[in-house]
Amino acid sequence: MSISKLQIQHLRNLSEVTLTASPAINIICGENGSGKTSILEAINVLGLTRSFRTNKARHLVQNGECAAVVFASIDPMAQGLKQSLGVQRPVEGEARIRFEGADIDLSTLAELIPLQVINSDTFLLLEGSPAVRRQFLDWGVFHADKAFIRLWRGFRRVLKQRNTLLKCGKIDNSLRQVWDCEFIAFSEQLNRLRIEYLKLLKPEFETVVSQLLGEMDIQLGFSYGWDKKRPLDEVLASNFERDLRQGFTGSGPQRADIRLKVDGHNAAERLSRGQKKLVVSALKLAQGALFQRMNGRPCIYLIDDLPSELDSVHGEQFCKVLEQSSNQCFITCVDDSSLNAFWHPQTELATFRITDGDIVSPM
Ligand SMILES: Nc1ncnc2c1ncn2[C@@H]1O[C@H](COP(=O)(O)OP(=O)(O)O)[C@@H](O)[C@H]1O
Ligand SMILES: [Mg+2]
Repeated sequence: MSISKLQIQHLRNLSEVTLTASPAINIICGENGSGKTSILEAINVLGLTRSFRTNKARHLVQNGECAAVVFASIDPMAQGLKQSLGVQRPVEGEARIRFEGADIDLSTLAELIPLQVINSDTFLLLEGSPAVRRQFLDWGVFHADKAFIRLWRGFRRVLKQRNTLLKCGKIDNSLRQVWDCEFIAFSEQLNRLRIEYLKLLKPEFETVVSQLLGEMDIQLGFSYGWDKKRPLDEVLASNFERDLRQGFTGSGPQRADIRLKVDGHNAAERLSRGQKKLVVSALKLAQGALFQRMNGRPCIYLIDDLPSELDSVHGEQFCKVLEQSSNQCFITCVDDSSLNAFWHPQTELATFRITDGDIVSPM
């Protein structure tokens, strides 16, 4: 998967920007507020119709305009094709996605463009709530198994129904057993897909962590969202009174989490800021490596301010891992000279300097 030509209109301070990207490494450099992150945001809109910075389209769309538009020429299956994709994000209403002249829906788009973002929010994979880690995990399962999206939607529907019944107290223990059959069937299948995915992800993660951080005893664990030593029907039965009091389901895949430990301790409490950045980046890079192995095509990485938090040794390691992968990377930094020395001469490198929302020099 790669983007060759990218055209952005009316997104933050980018009135009209066109760039021809390298299939490998793209560096976007410029001063604070020049529009670097906005370019990454535009690519995120292209892949997911939304920003990674805001849920409100009115902040994303340029002041005074009614919609942000991102067009690209893409090669989704890495077959040397050029196909056209356009996403229009209006201030009001739904986004419109056009691929090769036809409307497509969001899950088709997400399948088409496997996108990974590494920015300051990525720290939330260690420091944030379990929901962030579930989202990370489910990105992988979504792309690994076609059955996932149907199971996930089915599970959300049953969970919502169960919670509604609990909230209005219109359920007793015998009625619960009837409703829980479906809940348990979806939960077990979803859980199995997550376990299978993590089993494949672990060795990839260990490889990337050792490349980025050297030898470090870091373990990736998984909690199901219920006591894994007990069958889910037994857990639901014994927690039923509590669920009724609280008005929601306290156990199940909606409570799953990934645990990261260093020497047996919570990684979020033990690692330095720079080490955290490398560990969360390793998680994302491992996902991309596994995606490539399973689907035979690379991901697109959006990496905001790569040099921040990293000393030059680790910055160089990071760049090496990126250039050795076949992913297409869009990397921002204030000053590209901080990264220049790290790239292999053979790496296809494109550098774009941006000032006040305009690309002033593709170099
Ligand atoms: N809706 C908007 N319309 C116009 N300009 C905006 C809008 N939102 C943000 N900006 C401006 O866009 C610029 C781009 O910021 P950003 O991409 O975050 O810069 P960088 O990452 O280079 O520091 C900022 O100067 C900001 O003030
Ligand atoms: Mg920025």
